[in-house]
Amino acid sequence: MNSKFPICVLLSGKGSNLRAILERQAAYQVAAVFSDKADAPGLQIAQKAGISLIKAFPRDQYPDKLSQKNAIYEAIESLNPNLICLAGFMQILEKNFVNRYSGKIINVHPSLLPKLTGLNTHSRAIEQGEDRHGCSIHFVDSGLDSGPIIAQSSCDVKDTDDAESLAAKVLKLEHRLYPVVVEAIALGLVRLEKNNKVFVDPVFEKKLSELEIRS
Ligand code: GRF
Repeated sequence: MNSKFPICVLLSGKGSNLRAILERQAAYQVAAVFSDKADAPGLQIAQKAGISLIKAFPRDQYPDKLSQKNAIYEAIESLNPNLICLAGFMQILEKNFVNRYSGKIINVHPSLLPKLTGLNTHSRAIEQGEDRHGCSIHFVDSGLDSGPIIAQSSCDVKDTDDAESLAAKVLKLEHRLYPVVVEAIALGLVRLEKNNKVFVDPVFEKKLSELEIRS
């Protein structure tokens, strides 16, 4: 285990957020990348980056979904990371696990939470006539995309936008925001307090304005 703030990234797909997180490593270090899909392209990104611990836990190697997730939980347990980053990880985490790692699991969600939890957020933003859309980084609790919000970044929804163009715009926002939030947590500028409120140091607020990635 690295002495630097070690983080574990969980993903199921492309891994573009993993790439963004890897690029900003300094205050934190990606110690492991785990996936529930053997063919997740994000695993190749991890390999190219030379991450020492990369593991897939494909569903067909386990008798049921819970055993599959338990294997992932055990791997995380033995790593004991300072932070678990969900980056397009398409599984619901068990309540026990989430409670055990309270304040140590964060997620990127492609909407301005609490609006548009769940899937297909971009087409729903258009259908609902939203004029702003974006992404949220939040601490994970046992609800669906319901944990305390750390930071958001937003863009206009134009008349010319469709779900695809909106997804591309929001993904860019995710890539800018997510690594900065991970870094802030590693530096102790953001944390989840006992009352379930997010502590945000003004230094982090300033950084977000400087980078112009504030919602
Ligand atoms: C992102 O849109 C993220 O908001 C959602 O899953 C997608 C992951 O994309 N949770 P990638 O695998 O990081 O490219």
